[in-house]
Amino acid sequence: MTYEMIITRTEGADARKVGIVTLNRPKQLNALNNQLMDELGSALKAFDADDSVGCIILTGSEKAFAAGADIGAMAQYSFADVYNNDYITRNWEHIRSIRKPVIAAVSGFAVGGGCELAMMCDFIIAADNARFGQPEIKLGIIPGAGGTQRLPRAVGKAKAMELILTGRMMDALEAERAGLVSRVVPLEKLMDEALGAALMICSYGQPSVFAAKEAVNRSFDSGLSDGVMFERRLFHALFATEDQKEGMDAFVNKRKPAFKHR
Ligand code: CAA
Repeated sequence: MTYEMIITRTEGADARKVGIVTLNRPKQLNALNNQLMDELGSALKAFDADDSVGCIILTGSEKAFAAGADIGAMAQYSFADVYNNDYITRNWEHIRSIRKPVIAAVSGFAVGGGCELAMMCDFIIAADNARFGQPEIKLGIIPGAGGTQRLPRAVGKAKAMELILTGRMMDALEAERAGLVSRVVPLEKLMDEALGAALMICSYGQPSVFAAKEAVNRSFDSGLSDGVMFERRLFHALFATEDQKEGMDAFVNKRKPAFKHR
């Protein structure tokens, strides 16, 4: 597939590289329309299927990660249009099926669907100019790509309710204090920091990376007992991998592990 609204590339000199997807509709602040979401889903699936890729970074421009769903495209939609076409569900949720970690490297605006897209990633590293919010209420709607569910889980009910009801944006430091982003870095260091984390993840055994992601995600989708039981089963299962033997043997013998991803 050739892409018009995103740019893809890989980085890294080792056997396992980082796949990078850059949203690229700068004049519209990366507003998310159907074509862009189709392209994003296709690129993410291609990286997920590529054995030479160990981790994925999703990023935007300095000014905007993404300013939300494309309002111009949505303005004329009727209930029948969005319901019959399964708007959002149809092509926004591919990212949830990606097994490799997806890091959101966010600078500028991540608002509305842009904030929701960032929250669908596994963690967010924010530049110091990042701004997050769910301003849909100003348009006579509510967040429709999971914002009312993921934001309270990330920042707690009080702050999520305030942001969603008022449409107020929060800056990067507030987002870090609230737990929405894993850390804030200077804008000029954003990609270096995201790449550093992604390359670190690439250096680990793939089964344990998959298991870690699945287990943490389970904590959001289930009660504590179910989540802990799921984690325990995955933890036990990793003792069947060669990477577990290698990783622990390397530690015991004070050498660097050579993971085989099986
Ligand atoms: N959809 C379509 N176009 C958008 C857009 C969007 N979500 N956000 C920005 N743009 C366009 C603007 O219309 C403008 O285009 P023109 O130059 O042709 O006029 C261009 O991008 C630049 O935007 P601004 O001039 O507004 O830039 P700014 O720096 O003054 O303001 C902003 C930035 C505060 C993010 C402002 O653009 C804004 O409020 N955007 C809308 C944010 C929003 O409401 N997002 C939620 C959308 S609904 C949604 O996402 C539903 C869902 O949950 C799935």
